[in-house]
Amino acid sequence: MSMLDVRSLSTRYGAVVAVDGVDLSAQAGRITCVMGRNGTGKTSLMRTIMGQIKAHAGTVTVDGHDLSTAPAHARAMAGVSLVPQGREIFPKLTVAENLAVALSARSDGLRKVPDDLIDLFPILRQFLKRMGGDLSGGQQQQLAIARALVTNPKVLLLDEPTEGIQPNIIEDIGSILRRLAKERQLAIVLVEQYFDFVQRIGDDFLILDRGRVVARGNCADLSMDNVGKHLSV
Ligand SMILES: Nc1ncnc2c1ncn2[C@@H]1O[C@H](COP(=O)(O)OP(=O)(O)OP(=O)(O)O)[C@@H](O)[C@H]1O
Ligand SMILES: [Mg+2]
Repeated sequence: MSMLDVRSLSTRYGAVVAVDGVDLSAQAGRITCVMGRNGTGKTSLMRTIMGQIKAHAGTVTVDGHDLSTAPAHARAMAGVSLVPQGREIFPKLTVAENLAVALSARSDGLRKVPDDLIDLFPILRQFLKRMGGDLSGGQQQQLAIARALVTNPKVLLLDEPTEGIQPNIIEDIGSILRRLAKERQLAIVLVEQYFDFVQRIGDDFLILDRGRVVARGNCADLSMDNVGKHLSV
């Protein structure tokens, strides 16, 4: 059984159909990559799964629980977590405070950010008292991922975490995501436009075009020859 199961999901903004009947399954321990050109509905899909946007139709099931009508907070409690596009770090809160904010969505009532989580990101331990707004883009991205992990999710959604990030930090993020999938058996859904990165760290992929899935498969079979037509500008 899939950890995350999305069936026939559709999202509209007024008359604009942003997500159009998407099926997506994400397995524990695997990285499922969502690709597609700008404006094809990737963010809308992530925000609909998270419950930040109301679906027009379709279902979202996590670990066997139907969350289709649950609000975002309930989905967080049930084990879904989103690293939003653009990171959305609180610039005037410290790193420690940015992390602590997410504790309210833990289902076990834990009131302290676990040490082993901060250990995944050595740079954050060093900067715990620094303002979020004073971190570099790459450090903020690591903070955004750490904050998403504070809720102890089963399903981790990441919306373009490599956007505007230096290559060496992209590599760090890639190895952390691989570790999280393997060691914590997270089901990771990674929205990503950086093809090489998907090829290196992904397990499964799907490609959106105008809100619909136009290709899907195993990342081992991924090549520009077979999917380039859906990606190139
Ligand atoms: N709040 C909104 N109101 C109206 N239309 C929207 C809204 N947000 C997105 N859209 C439209 O929905 C479609 C999908 O947008 P979305 O942001 O989900 O795409 P995306 O694949 O994440 O793009 P990008 O690669 O640029 O991040 C686009 O046509 C966009 O203009
Ligand atoms: Mg987007």
